[in-house]
Amino acid sequence: MIEITKIQMDYEINPVGVTQMPQFGWIIGGNGFNVIQEAYRLQIADSMQFQEENIQYDSMRVISEESAHVYLKDMELRSAHRYYVRVKIWDTLGEESEWSMPGYFVTALLHPNEWKGRFISAETKEDVATSQGTYVKHDFILNGKVKSAYAFTTALGLYHFYINGEKIGEDELTPGFTSYKKRLLYQTYEVTNALQEGNNVIAASLGAGWYKGKMGFLEERNNYGNQTAFLGQIQIEYEDGSTEIISTDESWQGASSPILFAEIYDGEYYDASLEQPKEWYPVEVVEYDKSVLHAQAGARVKQHEGIPARRILITPQGDKVIDFGQNLAGWIEVKAAGTKGARIELQCFEVLDAQGNVYLENLRGAKETITYICKEERMITYHPNFTYQGFRYARINAYPGEAKPEYFTARALYSDMRPTGTFWCSNPDINQLQSNILWSLKSNFVDIPTDCPQRNERVGWTGDAQIFCRTAGFLMNTYTFFSKWLKDVTADQTKEGGVPHIVPDLISGKEQDDWLLSQGTHSAAAWADVAVINPWILYLTYGDKQILEEQYDSMKKWIEFMRAHALDGIWNYKLQFGDWVALDAEEGSYFGATPNDLTCTAYYVYSTGLFAKIAKVLNRMEDYAVYDTLYQQIKQGFQVHFLDSRGNLTVQTQTAHIIALYFDLLPEDKKQQNANQLVQLLKREKGHLVTGFVGTPYFCHALSSHGYLKEAYELLLKDDFPSWLYQVKKGATTIWEHWDGLKPDGTMWSPDMNSFNHYAYGAIGEWLYRVVAGIEVEEENPGYKQAFLYPRIGGGLTAVKATYSSVYGELRLAWNKEKSKIILQIEIPHNTTAKIRLEAVAEITETAGIAFLSTEDGTKDRIGIAGSGSYEIHYDKQE
Ligand code: BGC
Repeated sequence: MIEITKIQMDYEINPVGVTQMPQFGWIIGGNGFNVIQEAYRLQIADSMQFQEENIQYDSMRVISEESAHVYLKDMELRSAHRYYVRVKIWDTLGEESEWSMPGYFVTALLHPNEWKGRFISAETKEDVATSQGTYVKHDFILNGKVKSAYAFTTALGLYHFYINGEKIGEDELTPGFTSYKKRLLYQTYEVTNALQEGNNVIAASLGAGWYKGKMGFLEERNNYGNQTAFLGQIQIEYEDGSTEIISTDESWQGASSPILFAEIYDGEYYDASLEQPKEWYPVEVVEYDKSVLHAQAGARVKQHEGIPARRILITPQGDKVIDFGQNLAGWIEVKAAGTKGARIELQCFEVLDAQGNVYLENLRGAKETITYICKEERMITYHPNFTYQGFRYARINAYPGEAKPEYFTARALYSDMRPTGTFWCSNPDINQLQSNILWSLKSNFVDIPTDCPQRNERVGWTGDAQIFCRTAGFLMNTYTFFSKWLKDVTADQTKEGGVPHIVPDLISGKEQDDWLLSQGTHSAAAWADVAVINPWILYLTYGDKQILEEQYDSMKKWIEFMRAHALDGIWNYKLQFGDWVALDAEEGSYFGATPNDLTCTAYYVYSTGLFAKIAKVLNRMEDYAVYDTLYQQIKQGFQVHFLDSRGNLTVQTQTAHIIALYFDLLPEDKKQQNANQLVQLLKREKGHLVTGFVGTPYFCHALSSHGYLKEAYELLLKDDFPSWLYQVKKGATTIWEHWDGLKPDGTMWSPDMNSFNHYAYGAIGEWLYRVVAGIEVEEENPGYKQAFLYPRIGGGLTAVKATYSSVYGELRLAWNKEKSKIILQIEIPHNTTAKIRLEAVAEITETAGIAFLSTEDGTKDRIGIAGSGSYEIHYDKQE
């Protein structure tokens, strides 16, 4: 029996706030082998029952194998409307599924001129320097029964939205962090049940947030404006068919809120005795260009895991400290019963120092402190509103009564994304590493991809987002998250196509304020290449061409920028980060030993090669011809400049070799000798890496794809300094920014830049999925329509289990090693196939469930193509 288990729209389940017909996809469930879709039928209706008269669209039976990336033509959408969707399919064996359970999508405002509301503020123009919270509210009467109502809301600053005292939606930190002057997102909510006939009150609570508060390592405030403001509009349809719009205007009232202070870095100060405003006053209308408004349909920040305090300890210096046992980003939910005026004050931080005392220095300017003043004697639960903290620990500066662990919960806050992958193996340290990678992802996918969640930085460093993108896609469905942020990358590109170091770009135009930025605020190799590499990774991961179309101009401009600034085949430009924080840097320097000319040119070649492929995928053959030629030329240029007469790289660093190999920059017959040389360089460091942001992500790949699987495993499994597992052995629960964040002698890297929650080096995660488990995507069949399964047995591991939910469904792979015998279990989602490659096979002793396993080349490394289903293969491995 086959069935549809899930309908996805723009890679989301039931998105609310879409502005164009989403692309559809569905997951086919049920038992059986080799289920391939032959045809589908998709209906869209106004009602869940799909009665004749409600059906808005019927594709009828469409002969097509596509169960993802399905586009519909010819249906006009209405604003503020809920559409139900259902699908049925037929497979190639003639079986027909039932109709699926309906999914739905809700439209936002489809035309900019539908905005009736105006931005209103309870602040005045004099409030530039304050970060105090405010309220705005509006009382009104509804004369009739509401059939449907949708709210569209946003703010300059951060907001929570309320109807009749209830917070609407589960989102936090809305409207998120975008390049506000060019793109401000609004959220859509269905509020039918929140409204009532008769009296209603709608309100919003506002805070300074990224828009107005102190932001960026320059610690400047008012980066986007001086006044917080709210914009909202509710579209109501009554049962009798009449409609009404309630929106923000000058008739609303404002007041100050109990949030006396809230900022992203510094925390929040909340005085509960001020919850009822003493006075309401007229709001000010704030002029703001509404053409920059865009609806946001997914990946909004929400509260996730709640982690109870593990213990409360007293430090040698006498501080009382809560330990949650896990480093994360979010906030503390605290319970307390204090009398009027009693104070709770908690200061969050990441690590204890060598003596076990509170260590705040690496937070730099960020205060990370939350304060709550009680208003009466009763048990309260409080968490902050317009801030978040990066922490594992919190110092209790004040607390009424005895602080017990059960009064404190750490609540993780991150963009809503569906988990996609799991990885487990027989080595517990690797499993902890995997957990650390996942937690650094969660901690740094807080609306934008941030570098770190704790110090006064937390900005969208493009390089970090570039190197971690592929790993992230194995762990979470990042499509909506990244496609949103990439639009800001485009928006913030310079006229010439330069890509800022951070997006949203808080630094351009402030060159004079900082010694580093005075050297350049955009266009660093590996950082700026995010413009090409991330859309490409999304394409590989989801098989989605739309993202390539959307980002095409931005990519092209970036390639052209490099071309314009390349000289004699070498590209380099102003401020470069090179192999950032590599250990082969000179003492005290952040910049690794690999010269910028090499890293820059290597990325120039790599991105240009990807862009040429992208042009081909999109069938832009003229561009393909132009950029493929450019690619060939500059690749040759790279070889001329960086290879000696024997074909060896002239730069003798690990990173130079890693990227030359991984980016495929070497002549075919010179690859192996350079791979051999990389192994020599590794030996010189006694098997340790000394690489930074540029070399680290691909180190194991460069080894394992050139005959050095054993060495790659050895590198992964090193657990003394410097290595991935060194951090694990030191008790890390997230990935560190520096290999030597905490040194073997107990001292730390300089507090001026020492995050313990930086996902960059977590980029090793993709090697675990792609090589250890062997779940690989093929460029010719993106999105795992035909997966390539090539598990690489090694590292002393006896068992590995990995799962990955692609757009077609869940793929599972497990291997168990017993002496020389391997048992491989594979499950492939319906409507997909897989190529399986078994390495070093002596003999296949048993296969179960396999309808075929043909040997393509007759060698012992067997390659087969399986249809969907579960398979088991037993084989003996040649040692
Ligand atoms: C950030 C990095 C970033 C780097 C660029 C640091 O301050 O935390 O992760 O990529 O600067 O130089």
